[in-house]
Amino acid sequence: MPDINNVIAKYSSASDLIPALQEIQEAFGYLSEENMEALSHKIKVPLAQISGVATFYSMFRLKPLGKHNIAICRGTACHVHDSETLLKSAEKKLNIKAGEITSDGMISLTSVNCIGACAKAPAIMVDGKVYGNLDDKKLTKIIEDLRKQG
Ligand code: FES
Repeated sequence: MPDINNVIAKYSSASDLIPALQEIQEAFGYLSEENMEALSHKIKVPLAQISGVATFYSMFRLKPLGKHNIAICRGTACHVHDSETLLKSAEKKLNIKAGEITSDGMISLTSVNCIGACAKAPAIMVDGKVYGNLDDKKLTKIIEDLRKQG
């Protein structure tokens, strides 16, 4: 695990807020309360303001990702192809809501904007790999495979 003080060492003012949050997320995978607090001291911006920014931008995650992450695309093309049903189905199969992680820490579920596979809508991204023309059957198989992989 990286040291937060090293990660934010080069940031010193309020104008560094967004790049600093991006770097923290890159290093730790998400923005924990403690790390945002450390940043608050470093760049002298109140924690409430930092949390507000982190919550406002969908690119920031406030919870850790699982060992595997399923990102359901909610961009326009995928929305037209009923990605909402897919998302609901994934939530049901995993027994979590988007933005959460299964209790064993194995799988997290996120919703994202266009992942550049509109021609294959609805599309999802699993551990960085795109799967297109998704339907419930394919989603079930993907989740089963992830569970088998461990
Ligand atoms: S909108 Fe889903 S891949 Fe473009």
